[in-house]
Amino acid sequence: MVNAYLDIGIQSRMNRIISPKDNRVVMLAIDHPYFQGPTTGLRDMSGTIRTLLPYCDCLMTTRGAVQSNISPGDLGSKPIMLRVSGGNSVLFEDLSDERLTVTIKEAIRMDAAGVAVSVFIGSSNQQRTILNLTDMINYSGEYGIPVLAVTAVGKDMARDLRYLALASRICQDAGARIIKTYYCEEFSKLVDWVAPTAVVVAGGKYSSPPDALGMAWNSVQAGAAGVDFGRNIFQDENPVGMIKAINAIVHGDHTVKEALDIYNDCLPGARKLE
Ligand code: 5RP
Repeated sequence: MVNAYLDIGIQSRMNRIISPKDNRVVMLAIDHPYFQGPTTGLRDMSGTIRTLLPYCDCLMTTRGAVQSNISPGDLGSKPIMLRVSGGNSVLFEDLSDERLTVTIKEAIRMDAAGVAVSVFIGSSNQQRTILNLTDMINYSGEYGIPVLAVTAVGKDMARDLRYLALASRICQDAGARIIKTYYCEEFSKLVDWVAPTAVVVAGGKYSSPPDALGMAWNSVQAGAAGVDFGRNIFQDENPVGMIKAINAIVHGDHTVKEALDIYNDCLPGARKLE
């Protein structure tokens, strides 16, 4: 049985990230420049963050993004999931060679509600990245800060149940409190494998509002705690409509059709997506 007293800091921060009302979360991922530099949709990163922040439960981002783009006034009490791994760029084929990039002291100084570490299971840097995760879990556990594990995949790896469940289960055993992974067929089996650890789904490359909303709906219906979408929100022509529609799916169990109506209500002019 878990000692609730020892876990109270973790639990309180988890409650800031994942709403205890419905155990769901809309996390907004704006951490892409840490490895890809200038990113479509983030030319005015501070404007994008300011516009979308009111509609997310938690912002996943980097130290530099917070320093350069977010004023304390705009942030208010919105929790930050701080990315603390990195060290590579898209100029290399293999993105897996990451290290820890932010100290736990810095995460505390920034009042991070949680910290995020990528693991590249099956890659040439599998061991290093799993040890990045366990090191950060050891450091942050001392201060009651939960760790989100990002099951990043290499270019050649299949995003199927076998691989994603394997990667997610390893992250759970390492001690991650939240697992970020990709949606796949039979996703409920992955969620079952790692229960009761919370699972959030990454959006991946920009697709289209119906496809991205469909993925959000399938994910929560399969038992995910929510989504951690980036490009499918901030690269859309109607980012506010998109994040409002995602909120309706995640927190309101709205159907994709109902969510698209919310999206369309925010589209300028008389245009509508079906
Ligand atoms: C990269 C990340 C990104 O935050 C993640 O890919 C989410 O963004 P998107 O929805 O654009 O895929 O963790 O490793």
